[in-house]
Amino acid sequence: MSSTEMSSKPMNCVMLSRTINLRKYLKDQIARLDGRVTFVDHLDGTNPATVRMAVGWHPHADAFDHYPNLTAACSIGAGADSILACPSLRDGIDVVRVVEPAQAEMMSGFVIWHAIYHQRRMGIYLQNQRDKIWKRIGQRTTQEVPVGILGYGAIGARVAADLAALGFPVKVWSRSAKPTSQGVNGFHGADGLDAMLAGSEILVNLLPLTVETRNILNAALFAKMPRGGYLIQVGRGEHMVEQDLLDALASGQLAGASLDVFLAEPLSPEHPFWSHPNIVLTPHDACDVTLAAVGRTLLETAEALQAGVKPKDAVDRSRGY
Ligand code: GLV
Repeated sequence: MSSTEMSSKPMNCVMLSRTINLRKYLKDQIARLDGRVTFVDHLDGTNPATVRMAVGWHPHADAFDHYPNLTAACSIGAGADSILACPSLRDGIDVVRVVEPAQAEMMSGFVIWHAIYHQRRMGIYLQNQRDKIWKRIGQRTTQEVPVGILGYGAIGARVAADLAALGFPVKVWSRSAKPTSQGVNGFHGADGLDAMLAGSEILVNLLPLTVETRNILNAALFAKMPRGGYLIQVGRGEHMVEQDLLDALASGQLAGASLDVFLAEPLSPEHPFWSHPNIVLTPHDACDVTLAAVGRTLLETAEALQAGVKPKDAVDRSRGY
């Protein structure tokens, strides 16, 4: 059913976040969806029983308790982990993530930049520039620098294909076996993970955050990579044991890391990552979905609820992504 065919009664959608002012964030989309989705607040007098959908990001622990008839909750990003982790999320509520090809393209550009930064040894050149040292250190082709990618969803697939097109030998790891595109070698399961790590000088983390993947970037995993490897961490901060990264950098097991996500965001001014010579960091800004994509997801979810069907980009709650 298209939006124009949708029943004239707008769908009540509540905004659930303890970290973002969603009304401010979604401003233009709220105006755009007006008449089809009505955004309501916890205390604006709306009868909570009339609320069937939510848009959320790090909701309060009891957020869902207030809405007995809520059946779908949309994230404002590709990851829906902060909603899935909410203790009051009931069985039967569909959790919907935003899927947008432009986000995969943006992430790919980010990962490529950092992979080449390591391949072309830019960290050393930047340090030498600061120290006014003229020294050629030699270069390697992309074919000489194998890259492993943890996670092979829509974003991982785009990143893998783009790196392979540049000549990097690419290995990807996913929980279960998946067909891969040209130039991309697939691995899965526990044995597959070890084999993939052993052949990956650069490791890119694009996993969803689940009970199984929390803390996956730890000392034991770093030890399975070739010595002098490089980490590009663009998943979630909770994937990584931060002290284990510092130890791996100190021992030389890892030569460096590009970090975009952190256990506590914003990163505190005292955090050792800020001034670490072998860490490049960015403030959870590797890529983003557009607000238009968030708006489209909200509208499609409202339409699915009106039609009594499952929203298109609902995650598999038993898998956690
Ligand atoms: C960003 O972190 C997202 O989930 O899109």
